[in-house]
Amino acid sequence: MSEERRSAAGLPRAHLLREMGLTPQWRLREALAAGRQRLAESANPATATAGRRAVEEDLTGRPASLSMAASPTDRAARIARLGWDELRAAVADCRACGLCAERRQAVLGVGDAAADWLFIGEGPGAEEDARGEPFVGPAGKLLDAMLAAIDLRRGDDVYIANAVKCRPPNNRTPETAEMAACAPYLQRQIALLQPRLIVLLGRAAVHALLGDVGSLASLRGKPFAFSLPEGNGRPIPVVVTYHPAYLLRSLTDKAKAWEDLCRARALMREAKAAGKPAA
Ligand code: URA
Repeated sequence: MSEERRSAAGLPRAHLLREMGLTPQWRLREALAAGRQRLAESANPATATAGRRAVEEDLTGRPASLSMAASPTDRAARIARLGWDELRAAVADCRACGLCAERRQAVLGVGDAAADWLFIGEGPGAEEDARGEPFVGPAGKLLDAMLAAIDLRRGDDVYIANAVKCRPPNNRTPETAEMAACAPYLQRQIALLQPRLIVLLGRAAVHALLGDVGSLASLRGKPFAFSLPEGNGRPIPVVVTYHPAYLLRSLTDKAKAWEDLCRARALMREAKAAGKPAA
């Protein structure tokens, strides 16, 4: 190993970085810099492509990296081809935004992979981060009660996911960039599930799926539909309601959430009777 690859303490630099918990992020920057240098030196486009591929492989040890080193469009296109197992592995490994730094584990989602119902929340809290399953804390208990009120059960024709897969520190609302980094995962979940109906729990879920379209109160009761960016499949109807954690604090709005759930149930019944997506 050359001298400049050693730290002042005489330890190999990679060893020191690993001890300080600074890999792979630091390796990523180094690899990118080295890759850029190689690309700049290369006048031959074929060599340049090979150089870029080498950089991507350096980042994760996997071919065709899913990290942000790939352009967002390439990354989204790659995620859009993953099956459930690969998606779970990619999310578990994801370093596409800063939320990975403090998570214990990423939380993909839970439920029936052939579910008609998809419920989307905001992001894992402390208990979800510890257990690896969405909505297992106090808000989750209320969500289970809401499901039971319309004769549904977690895991039985129901899938539960979040806008972001890693816990935001101190349970803060995920930032727009964090939701954007996670969006390809959520979109892939929707494409794999092909649910008949999506219920968005709270404003962050609305923001992640529909964009920054207004206050939750102004969106409730309105008809929305979600179409996957690559356009495969039909538009999926969306019902917007309050987040269970908000309902734990605002008991008076529980009646409104109940109205939303009844509307969702009616849409689903019609859709099943007609043998088509809820509308
Ligand atoms: N709140 C969410 O939005 N999601 C969870 O998984 C838990 C709490």
